[in-house]
Amino acid sequence: MATIHKAKENPMKLADRKLLIRGRTARSGRVTISGAKNSAVAVLPACLLAEGTSILQNVPDIADVAVQREILESLGAEVSDGDQPGELRLSVGDVDAEVPYALAKQLRGSVLLLGPLVARKGEARVPLPGGCAIGSRPLDLHLKALRELGAEVEIEHGHIAARARRLVGAEVYLDFPSVGATENLIMAATAAQGTTVVYNAAKEPEVVDLANFLNAMGARVVGAGTDTIKIEGGRELRPVEYTIIPDRIEAGTYLLMGLAGGGRVTVENVIPTHLEALLAKLEEAGVELTDGGDYISARLEGRPKALQLKTLPYPGFPTDLQPQLSAFLLLANGTSVISERIFEDRFGHVDELKRLGGKVEIDGRTAVIDGVESLTGAPVTATDLRMGAALIVAGVAARGETLIDGVEHILRGYERLEEKLTQLGVACEWVE
Ligand code: EPZ
Repeated sequence: MATIHKAKENPMKLADRKLLIRGRTARSGRVTISGAKNSAVAVLPACLLAEGTSILQNVPDIADVAVQREILESLGAEVSDGDQPGELRLSVGDVDAEVPYALAKQLRGSVLLLGPLVARKGEARVPLPGGCAIGSRPLDLHLKALRELGAEVEIEHGHIAARARRLVGAEVYLDFPSVGATENLIMAATAAQGTTVVYNAAKEPEVVDLANFLNAMGARVVGAGTDTIKIEGGRELRPVEYTIIPDRIEAGTYLLMGLAGGGRVTVENVIPTHLEALLAKLEEAGVELTDGGDYISARLEGRPKALQLKTLPYPGFPTDLQPQLSAFLLLANGTSVISERIFEDRFGHVDELKRLGGKVEIDGRTAVIDGVESLTGAPVTATDLRMGAALIVAGVAARGETLIDGVEHILRGYERLEEKLTQLGVACEWVE
C-alpha cells in the first residue's frame, strides 16, 4: 500500500489523492450536516440582484461553491470569508454580463447566472455547460422560460446569449418541474414588469430556500414549494444577511454510510421533513429511526430488507440519493428494483460496485440488485459526485480496504469528508 499522508482537508489540494476506507469499522457516530450545496449554488448568483453587501451563513466549503464564488469575482463582485466558519460576504456593484468559459466548464450550476444577469444587466452571455456523466441535461426549459418573459435568447459560439430591453411578467408552464429552470425563471421574474406565474414548478427545498432569500431581499415570490409560484416583479431588492438550509442529500448520504457499516448513526442540524422519501424507504428496509426535530438517529439490526423504488421530483425519492441507496441495498435480504426516472444515465456506479462483489443487472433505466451476504474491498474510481458517495457507502460495508480514486468529484459536494467519516467511526485516510 502507498505512503499514507494525513492532509488538511482543502478540496483543491486533496483532489489529487485517493481515499482509503477500511470497511466494517463503523460502530456509532454523530455527524453535523453542512449547508446545502444545491441551495448555495443558486443563492450566490442571486446576490447579484441587489447592489451592496450580502452576508451568507452556513455556506459549505466545497469545490462547487469555490467555483461559483470565482465566477462572481470574475464578474466584478468582491467575495470574502466572514468571521464565522461558513460565512461569506459578497459586495456587489456594477457587474459584467459574460461568464468566463474556463470557470463555467467546471460547474453546471454556472447556468444559474443566466436569470440574475438578464435581470440586472438586461443581457447575459453564459457558456453552454455541455453534458455530464449522468445525462445529456439539455437547457431548453431555461431558454423557453426566459423567452416567455420577453428575452431574446440565442445559442452562439457555444454560449447562451440572452438580451432583454425589458422583461415582462408572463404565465409560464414548465414541461418538466426542472429545478434549474424554475430557479432561473424566479430570479429573472423579480426584475420583470408585472406578475409572472410559473406552473409545474420544481418543489425542491433548495427552490424554497432561494425564494426565501429573494423575499428577504424585498422580492415578492409566493407559492415556492408548491407547483404554482407567483412572482411580483419590479420591486427594489436590497442586500441582506441569510442562512442557507442544511444539505438533505449530505444528510441522507451519511445516514446510509453509517447504516451500511452496521452502526448506529445520528445526523445533526437537519430538517427531517426534507428527507421524508428516504426515511420512508429506510423504515421499509427495517431501519429503526428517531426523528429529534433537528436530528435523525438510525439503527439497523442485521441486513436491510430489499426495496422497490423510483426516483422522482421532490417530494418523491431524490435521484441524488439513488446511487448511495443502491450501494446500501447490495447487502439486502432479497432482490431490490430501482428505477431512475430523472436522468437517463445515472447507473455509472454499478460497474464499480460489482468490483466489491455487488450483484446488479441494468435494464435500461432500471437496476435489479440481488442482495449478497458480504462485500470485499477493492480499488475503484468515481466519475461523478453521487457515484463517489455510493462507493464510500459500499467501501464502509465491505470487508477489507477500498481505495477510491476520482475524489475530486466527491469533494465537489461533501465538506470536511475525512473528518465526518471519522466522526461516523469509519477508518479512512487520504493516500498519496
Ligand atoms: C438540480 O439539477 C441539482 N443540481 C441536481 O443535483 C439534481 O440531480 C437535479 O436538480 C434534480 O433534482 C443543482 O441544484 C445545482 P433539473 P438541475 O433541471 O437543475 C431535464 C447533485 O448531485 N431538463 O431539475 O440541472 C434534465 O435533463 C446534482 O447535486 C430538460 O430536459 O436538474 C433532467 O432529466 C446532480 N430541460 C431533468 O429535467 C431543461 O431545460 C431534471 O433536471 C432542464 C432540465
